[in-house]
Amino acid sequence: MEKGVTVWFTGLPSSGKTTIAHKLEGILRDRGHKVEVFDGDVIRKHLCSDLGFSKQDRDTNIKRIAYVCKLMTRNGVVAIAAAISPYREIRDYARKEIGDFLEVYVKCPIDVCTKRDVKGLYKKALNGEIKGFTGVDDPYEEPLHPELILETHNESVGDSTNKVVQLLEDKGYLQPVRKGHRSSV
Ligand code: ADX
Repeated sequence: MEKGVTVWFTGLPSSGKTTIAHKLEGILRDRGHKVEVFDGDVIRKHLCSDLGFSKQDRDTNIKRIAYVCKLMTRNGVVAIAAAISPYREIRDYARKEIGDFLEVYVKCPIDVCTKRDVKGLYKKALNGEIKGFTGVDDPYEEPLHPELILETHNESVGDSTNKVVQLLEDKGYLQPVRKGHRSSV
């Protein structure tokens, strides 16, 4: 059985976590891997539909996602988490719980995220219609020692995804494609 691992994307809203997660999912599946994406927005519709956005609820959200990722990882799956996960301590908890864990900081300046505003929520937060929105009036604690930083304002989705694939190969979780057969994204 292949060795499982959790790839944990963290970053501000609209930084690019979900987009890169799904691009990575496609590449890994094409290479014959078992893979599952755990996206905060989706998880919050079922497994965490009882939770809001207080620190306590966000931490509970991350604990639940980490628990499922742990089960996946120990069964040879590549679990991909894409959640803001704004608090360092609970990300470190996830790392300890899971073991085979790669933290990927999806880094993008707040003004670029605000311009992208994929779901129109920055606008609402800046208007005061949403309180406690990450990056506006709620904290985001940058990772201190992530395995990888993706600067999504400077690189394409393909570039970012390729860097994660490379990381998985470098760490021994993914067999490199034979020379001359590498497919680009
Ligand atoms: S986390 O902080 O607990 O990791 P998660 O990634 O699951 O957050 O969910 C974030 C998503 O919830 C955002 O993409 C956005 O669509 C929505 N959302 C609603 N209210 C907030 C808020 N106050 N802060 C951040 N995201 C919010």
